[in-house]
Amino acid sequence: MTHSAAPEAIPVILDVDTGVDDALAILFALAHPGINVLGISCVAGNASLERVVENTLRILDVADAPTIPVAAGARRPLLEPARSAAHVHGESGLGTLQLAPSDRQAESISSIELMRRLIQASPHPVTLVALAPQTNLALLLRQYPDVVNNIERIVFMGGSTTVGNATAVAEFNVWHDPEAAAIVLDSGVPTFMYGLDVFNQVSIPERVAVALAHGDSPLGHVVGRLLNNRIALGSGRNSDYTGLIGDAGALCALVDPDALETAMLPLRVQLSGYGRGQTLVDKRTHPGEDVVHGLVGDWEAAEVALDVDVDRYVRLFLDTLGLGSALPPSK
Ligand code: BDR
Ligand code: CA
Repeated sequence: MTHSAAPEAIPVILDVDTGVDDALAILFALAHPGINVLGISCVAGNASLERVVENTLRILDVADAPTIPVAAGARRPLLEPARSAAHVHGESGLGTLQLAPSDRQAESISSIELMRRLIQASPHPVTLVALAPQTNLALLLRQYPDVVNNIERIVFMGGSTTVGNATAVAEFNVWHDPEAAAIVLDSGVPTFMYGLDVFNQVSIPERVAVALAHGDSPLGHVVGRLLNNRIALGSGRNSDYTGLIGDAGALCALVDPDALETAMLPLRVQLSGYGRGQTLVDKRTHPGEDVVHGLVGDWEAAEVALDVDVDRYVRLFLDTLGLGSALPPSK
C-alpha cells in the first residue's frame, strides 16, 4: 500500500476497538492522501484491550505502514464492566481472519497521554475520530481539558436517530459507555455523529467481497475476508451486517462530506432504563417545549449524518485501497 499524506491532509487521531470494521477503517485512513494519521488510541469494546492493541499492530503490518504510535487506553467503560462483542467480531476481534503476530510494539505510555502529547504538538488542530466506545476520549477531556483548544472536532461512529443494534434503541459504541459519550458531547468540541442511519447502508456487494477474498491481491484478500466476516453473519436478524464497510464510512465522511445529508440537531444520551445508551435526537421543527415543561435541561447539539450516497462511498473506499477494479464500471 502506498502512503502519501498530502501536506494539507487532515491531522487525525484514531480511537479504535479493532474490530473487523475498525481494521477496514485503519486501512482506508492510511491509504487516503487527505488523512494524516498521527497516532492510534486503543480501547476495549469489540474485543479485550489486549486483543485490540494486537489486532491494530497487525493491521499496520498489513498496510505496511510507517511507524505510527499505538497505545492502550481503558480496559473497561467508566462505570460498567466490559461486555463481549464476540458474536459480531469473533473471539479475536478480526472474525476468521488470521494474521501473523507483529514485531511492532505499543507505546509504554497510556493512550490518554499519547493523545495529549500528539494534540499539543500538532501545528494544526487535530480531528479525533472515535470508532469505538468513547471511554478514552472522556478520560482525555476530563484529565486534560485544555486539549480542546487544539481539537478541530470529534467525528464519532456511534448512535442512531432510529433503531439500535446492541439493544432495540441503542448503538453498541454509545451503549458500551454511555457516560463517556455524554462527557464527549458536553465538552464544547464540535461533534459529528456518523451513526447507524448511515453505517447500516454502506455495504459492498457480496460477489465483490467474495472476489476480493479469493483474488491475487494480498490486501484485497484481507479486505475481502473482513467484509466476508460480516457476510458470514448475515443471516436472519444479523443480515444488517452484510458486507458493511462499517467504521470506514466515518473516515469517508471526513474526506467526502458532500456524499452525506446532514443536519445540526439537538442530541443527548439516555443514561437510565432500557433506553440506556440510546442517542435521543430531536428532529422536531419546533424543539424546546420539553425544556419549558422542565422535563430536561438544555440539549447538546451535533451535526448528524442522516443519509448517504452508498455507491459513492463504496467506490471511494475501494478506489482508495487500490481495489476499485473489483467493481463493475460505473455507468
Ligand atoms: C460499532 O460497534 C462495532 O461493532 C463496530 O466496530 C462499530 O464501531 C457499530 O455499532
Ligand atoms: Ca469499532
